[in-house]
Amino acid sequence: MIKEEEKLIVRRIKEGTVIDHISPGSSLNVLKVLGITGEEGMTVALVMNVPSRKMGKKDIVKIEGRELTQDQVDKIALISPDATINIVRDYRVVEKRKVSVPEVIRGIIRCPNPMCITNQQREAVIPTFRRISDSPLVLRCEYCGAILERKDILDQFR
Ligand code: CTP
Ligand code: ZN
Repeated sequence: MIKEEEKLIVRRIKEGTVIDHISPGSSLNVLKVLGITGEEGMTVALVMNVPSRKMGKKDIVKIEGRELTQDQVDKIALISPDATINIVRDYRVVEKRKVSVPEVIRGIIRCPNPMCITNQQREAVIPTFRRISDSPLVLRCEYCGAILERKDILDQFR
């Protein structure tokens, strides 16, 4: 039944990636994490707050003609830990992956410490974090040791 409703909102895709089970309301942030602005030219569908058996509500992102790399996929876990990634070829799901936060995260989130070298405009240092715990999620800045939790990460996308 959910399937039918969803079909009315956005059709199945022929080739590409479907990011499913995104935390409700987070699909814009998923696009941000992936660096997709809309200017790339591929067809992208965003579905927000549709009913889901597993989650109550969920978001979905469909990207036509593009298969995401594992590294891109894993970055989604920063903001939506329950997302599933479906690779679609010729209308069929040929691969289904769970996301997981990578051990090293570069250039997506900022360090909360204003004195950190990654926040100095004159220095071209890419913010880099190491995952020190998965659940609950804890990241540590490679440069100053500042600690980030999931809520700190989500705050940066507000
Ligand atoms: N999908 C799509 N286009 C396709 C195939 C699938 O847009 N050609 C979408 C479906 O609408 C769904 C997601 O990809 O949102 C996963 O498809 P599928 O594995 O068929 O659905 P489920 O079995 O419900 O997946 P899960 O068990 O992960 O909930
Ligand atoms: Zn830092």
